[in-house]
Amino acid sequence: MLELRGLRVTYGATVAVNTIDLDVPAGQATALLGANGAGKTSTLRAISRLIPSEGKILFDGEEVTRLAPETLASRGLIHVPEGRHVFSALTVHENLQVGQTARSGRTTIFDLADVYELFPPLVPLRKRLGWALSGGEQQMVAIGRALMSAPRLLMLDEPSLGLAPVVVQAVYAALARVKSQMPILLVEQNAAVALSLCDRGYVLLSGDIALQGSAADLSDRDAMLDSYLGHGADEPEPSTT
Ligand SMILES: Nc1ncnc2c1ncn2[C@@H]1O[C@H](COP(=O)(O)OP(=O)(O)O)[C@@H](O)[C@H]1O
Ligand SMILES: [Mg+2]
Repeated sequence: MLELRGLRVTYGATVAVNTIDLDVPAGQATALLGANGAGKTSTLRAISRLIPSEGKILFDGEEVTRLAPETLASRGLIHVPEGRHVFSALTVHENLQVGQTARSGRTTIFDLADVYELFPPLVPLRKRLGWALSGGEQQMVAIGRALMSAPRLLMLDEPSLGLAPVVVQAVYAALARVKSQMPILLVEQNAAVALSLCDRGYVLLSGDIALQGSAADLSDRDAMLDSYLGHGADEPEPSTT
């Protein structure tokens, strides 16, 4: 469904993504794991054409490397960015309706009723404004809005970030149902939760793919994953030079 060939992202002299190949097959959820600063967000932003990159991006077999972000979204490549980005002056219901505008004639698998069914906590909040939502509620609205636009591929950037474990569970229970309907590319630092959802995973380490395999393989390599993801016991604070 999505193929990256030699994708490279640089910011001036900083190499954020160092010429990677990655595949997101149809009918599967794929995890892109890595510590803070590994290059995960840069990869997603490059796929969505929000930042320039080198290399090739193929979506549904067609090269899309030179398309505008809006064009890609209208073709069904839908990105839920890091930090959620709910419209603060719109209600929950209006935020969800905004998603319809990117539908471009595709028939949706998730309409408004389905989104509320997927995220029951949103039902009593339909008239609440975006700014008055908790982090978890915002994440649900952001994912719901993306689903309303009838994705052909859903990309999510750290949906668990900053959420309480019980809320992470609710979000991932919903994603498990979404997964049966569309391919997912999921960026996470939280490997355990990501691998519980995904079929395959890639681990980014300073812009390179250090490890890849089935979710089961990666889960079995706990110790190595921990060292790549920066969960080691006495990790020094990264220096800012
Ligand atoms: N806008 C930017 N300008 C300069 N450097 C950036 C910018 N965004 C990210 N970087 C750098 O690129 C690297 C990868 O960042 P990022 O893709 O955000 O990683 P992750 O999402 O895995 O935390 C980091 O070294 C980060 O400091
Ligand atoms: Mg990031």
